[in-house]
Order: sequence, then structure tokens, then C-alpha cells
Amino acid sequence: MNLVLMGLPGAGKGTQAERIVENYHIPHISTGDMFRAAIKEGTELGLKAKSFMDKGELVPDEVTIGIVRERLGKSDCEKGFLLDGFPRTVAQAAALEDITAELNRQIDFVINIDVDKDILMERLTGRRICKACGSTYHLVFNPPAKEDTCDRCGGDLYQRADDNAETVQNRLDVNLKQTQPLLDFYEEKGYVRNINGQQDINKVFEDIDVLLGAVR
Ligand code: AP5
Ligand code: ZN
Repeated sequence: MNLVLMGLPGAGKGTQAERIVENYHIPHISTGDMFRAAIKEGTELGLKAKSFMDKGELVPDEVTIGIVRERLGKSDCEKGFLLDGFPRTVAQAAALEDITAELNRQIDFVINIDVDKDILMERLTGRRICKACGSTYHLVFNPPAKEDTCDRCGGDLYQRADDNAETVQNRLDVNLKQTQPLLDFYEEKGYVRNINGQQDINKVFEDIDVLLGAVR
């Protein structure tokens, strides 16, 4: 199954991706996670990405497309993949069509997690992530049982560098501009399935599961 997960920052892509890959056994490919790992390792890619991410701007297309092309060519993607946060521009989507064609593959669905933009500031500034296993929490909507500690592995929770109010606002503005043309591109191909992202986290997954169950 070859999937793209779309949605504004904070829509719940990472939260649902955790559940999808656990149930459908396909690799989770998040460009944001790949950039954050590169920043942590201090690689050239990390240095390039950091200046854009700190401001909430998009990393240039040629850089982003290059890392996705390389990742999709790896053998674990032969059984399918879940792209999270890529593509984010029409140029990236067009490049993805070329990459999948070269691999003799086709996107099955673009799952669009649909939420009202006005709720996203609160979701993002209240987000906490586990340093050890990457699980995502929210101080109000999905709190850990013990403050600052991961329920799954006991690891420490932290706040992402770009989850401060000022950077969040810019991320929302930047992504709002890109979303409609991208949705139009995929609507035309018939790939888009809209999921109501304003329900309880488990209910959002149930809806995705029903959709994917048809092709499981
Ligand atoms: P990236 O890491 O992809 O971040 P993003 O798109 O801003 O999305 P987020 O990860 O912030 O949100 P999410 O939708 O995963 O929400 P989550 O599930 O955590 O990108 C970061 C940066 O990298 C970009 O700004 C850019 O610079 C660069 N980049 C990445 N990809 C790129 C690309 N393709 N091109 C160019 N640049 C790129 O949920 C958020 C919070 O809400 C959590 O606390 C969660 O617990 C809570 N929550 C989730 N679902 C619900 C629910 N149903 N109800 C209540 N609360 C919920
Ligand atoms: Zn953890």
C-alpha cells in the first residue's frame, strides 16, 4: 500500500502515522523527522534544513525531493510506504509521480486529515514528544499519565524547537498557501480521501482503518 498523509501542521499526521504503520506494517517516511535527525547528527543536510525549519519556512524542493527519492529506493519500501509531510508543494507532488513511475508503483490514496486552522495553534504549542521513542502527546488532549514522562517507554518528553507560537504561525501561513493547489493536483487524479481530523484521536484512526481496510 503506497500512501500519502496530508494535513496542515498539527492536523495529526504524526499521531495517525504511528497507528497506521503499527497496523499496516509499512515504513513511515516523514521528511520532518528526517530533517530533525540530520540536524541532530550535524550533517550537511541538517545544516541546510535548520535555517528554514527554525523560521517555519519550507526546505527547498530540490533538497527535499532528493532525500525522498533516495529513501523510496530502499528495499523496505518494496512492500509499500507511508509518506508524512511530503509532498507539500505541487513541484514535490509532480516529482513524486516521476519517482513512483520509475519504481513501477502508484499512490493508492492521499489521506487528507481535515481540520479547521483555528485549532492548530493550541495543538502545536501543547505538543510534547518522547526523546526515546518519538511518541507524541498533548498536555490537554492526550496527556501522559505522569507529567514529562512517556507512557510507552518511560522516556523524557520535550517540546519541538518549532512549536513556539511565532514559528507555528509562520508554519500555518506557509502551509495554508501550498495546501489548496496540492489538493487540486491530487483531486484531479482521484487519490484524495478526506478524513475528519477534529474527532477523538482513536476515532480518526478508525475512519482511516475503514478506508484502508478495503485494500488491506
Ligand atoms: P513536519 O515535521 O512535517 O511538521 P508539520 O507539517 O508542521 O506537522 P507536525 O509534525 O507539526 O504536525 P502533525 O500533523 O504531525 O501533528 P501531530 O500528530 O504531531 O515539518 C517540520 C518542518 O520541516 C517544516 O516546517 C519544514 O520546514 C520542513 N519540512 C518537512 N517536510 C517538508 C517538505 N515536504 N518540504 C519542505 N519542507 C519540509 O499532532 C499535533 C498535536 O495535536 C499533538 O500534541 C497531538 O497529540 C495532538 N493531536 C493529534 N490529533 C489530535 C486529535 N484528533 N484531537 C486532539 N489532539 C490531537
Ligand atoms: Zn517513549
